[in-house]
Amino acid sequence: MLKSKKILMAMVTACMLTPIMPTYLPVLGTNHVWAAEDGQASGIDYLVLVNKMHKLPADYEAKVPLVTAKNSMGREFQVERDTYAHFVQLREALLKQGIQIEMDSIYRSVARQQEIVKEFTEKYGEDYVKKYVAVPGYSEHHTGLAVDICLVVDGKVIDDNDEMIAQKDIFARIHPLLADYGFILRYPQGQENITGYSYEPWHFRYVGKDVAKEICRRGVTFEEYIVARKG
Ligand code: DAL
Ligand code: ZN
Repeated sequence: MLKSKKILMAMVTACMLTPIMPTYLPVLGTNHVWAAEDGQASGIDYLVLVNKMHKLPADYEAKVPLVTAKNSMGREFQVERDTYAHFVQLREALLKQGIQIEMDSIYRSVARQQEIVKEFTEKYGEDYVKKYVAVPGYSEHHTGLAVDICLVVDGKVIDDNDEMIAQKDIFARIHPLLADYGFILRYPQGQENITGYSYEPWHFRYVGKDVAKEICRRGVTFEEYIVARKG
């Protein structure tokens, strides 16, 4: 068995005892810079791992090429440049199938994440927040590479977490298309012990087409892919 696989197995077993904390992962170095295979050389690490155990690298945000874009409802967002270009293509492809997705939350500063923690704690309580909301500084949304979408169904915006999870048929048609546009489903169902978060059918992470297709082909989480890659 590969060394990385052994580490992963041992850590996954340990993690069974603490369900939503991905304690299985060795703490990985942050001094790697990988471009998305189809990315434009903007100098950022498109495969940066940010999770409950890996804080956003201190110098990351300053380097991210953010662009400003609006969704169909007129809301404005900041989003990493290549991520946005690929999101536009994904959205167009889905529209052709009669599915409307819209940007709902993308780049978030540490201060904005703090506000979200407060809002969600007041609304849903601490247990819910641990399952769905990252501690400020540990959110993938700080990278500009994570896209939360909402749905527009029969002219009605669906952006509530529970209502979106209920849209199983629509997400079953969206998810198989993600890799073709360089995205992965970052928090898949049943992988909470590895990702640290409950199923989020709406949270897509841009990694580039080659990596997205490889993750999809192997049927692994981003955490598993990164451990194997660094193995
Ligand atoms: N919902 C994801 C885990 C975040 O808050 O970054
Ligand atoms: Zn998200």
